[in-house]
Amino acid sequence: MQIRRVSAEERLDTSMPLTAYAFAPSPEPVDREKWRDNLPYYQGHSTLMAEDGGRTLAVVTSIPMRQNVRGSVYPMAGIAGVASHPLARRQGHVRTLLTRLLGEMRDDGRPVSALYPFRPSFYHRFGYIGLPMPPTVSFAPADLAPLLRADLPGEVSWERLADGYDGYRDMREQLVARRHGCAILPDYAVARFRDEEQRWLVTARSGGELVGAVTYRITDHGGDLLADDLLTTGPLGRALLLRFFASHVDQVTRVSVRVDPDEAPEQWATDLGFVSEAKVAVPSFHAPMARILSLDALAGMAVGPGRVAVTVVDDLFISGEYLLDGASGKLEVTRGAGMAVPAATLTVAGLSGLVYGVLDPAELAFRDLGTVPDPAADQLRAMFPRQRPYVVAQF
Ligand SMILES: CC(C)(COP(=O)(O)OP(=O)(O)OC[C@H]1O[C@@H](n2cnc3c(N)ncnc32)[C@H](O)[C@@H]1OP(=O)(O)O)[C@@H](O)C(=O)NCCC(=O)NCCS
Repeated sequence: MQIRRVSAEERLDTSMPLTAYAFAPSPEPVDREKWRDNLPYYQGHSTLMAEDGGRTLAVVTSIPMRQNVRGSVYPMAGIAGVASHPLARRQGHVRTLLTRLLGEMRDDGRPVSALYPFRPSFYHRFGYIGLPMPPTVSFAPADLAPLLRADLPGEVSWERLADGYDGYRDMREQLVARRHGCAILPDYAVARFRDEEQRWLVTARSGGELVGAVTYRITDHGGDLLADDLLTTGPLGRALLLRFFASHVDQVTRVSVRVDPDEAPEQWATDLGFVSEAKVAVPSFHAPMARILSLDALAGMAVGPGRVAVTVVDDLFISGEYLLDGASGKLEVTRGAGMAVPAATLTVAGLSGLVYGVLDPAELAFRDLGTVPDPAADQLRAMFPRQRPYVVAQF
């Protein structure tokens, strides 16, 4: 068995057949022309494969993304296309490939990694921790009727996603710059959503500034308006987009839209009846997961005041002793044991949970994610206060 990188043209005969078998309905006639047409959408992906005698045994892919973690935007390794041949499973091939790929990504200057897991426990073995699943809110557009009379200082434009794509991308860039957890795919990878022409786009502006955008499609007259992520810079953008949905009262029965986990639909309109759902189930409904690949590279991140010695255990990439200091408001990372400071022992998943703001230090022991005596918990809690990430990773 050997491991090597998959070149662009080789994808047609190596990674694409395996991922098609793993993730698409089958058997289907092989449409090589369609696969070839899709090759540009993978041009910057980094794919490793394990092969034996010309047979592809397993593949893993990293997508060069960016992610906001506590206000700083880092190069991120988005992991995707993880699959092994049905006759070569449980033989350690994916473990070997993923370990190699994550090491390469860390050396390539990507201090964080995120993915959507088929089964969280599988990726937990690789140091990933679960992040919140953004909920989908469904409601009858009639319930937003009061917004139709609201005097809002802004306007919306409506077009096909293909026509307004640049504005939509600007909105995504704004969000990744300002919202903890938000990630963004490279341009070449998202071009497929623009090219597929399967979505409408509504964009909200005020004083010429972008304040909101959402993509959607409509199933039928009297059917559903299925929106993707409600992207806004604040209440005005949200109100402008919701008012647009309200104008569909005689056209669709329900509107559903994915929202920031910090959203409070109770405040969108008085008398709004809604269902807010976040479904997570193996293997098809995934909450995102993330991990840190380099702690040193996170130096400078905005943190609270605190000082703690941390020993990271059982990880190929960041195991070791660190002194973390947040006295300046920016994370300082020094290698080596701290003298006379509270100390904790953490797994990388535990540390990632603190940095991503999804765990309290007191929870770590209950989940086998570390040993954190109270004095160290106080310091870690002050440095990494809970902060819910919103992972918008779609186009
Ligand atoms: C999931 C899949 C990629 C695993 O590949 P694999 O080559 O069998 O994985 P490995 O043999 O390298 O196993 C790696 C580790 O995960 C464990 N593991 C494998 N399958 C697992 C599963 N379904 N659930 C939990 N753990 C699992 C193995 O025991 C091993 O643990 P260890 O190294 O700590 O002993 C493969 O079954 C597959 O292609 N499935 C269909 C596509 C899919 O779901 N891909 C994942 C998309 S996110």
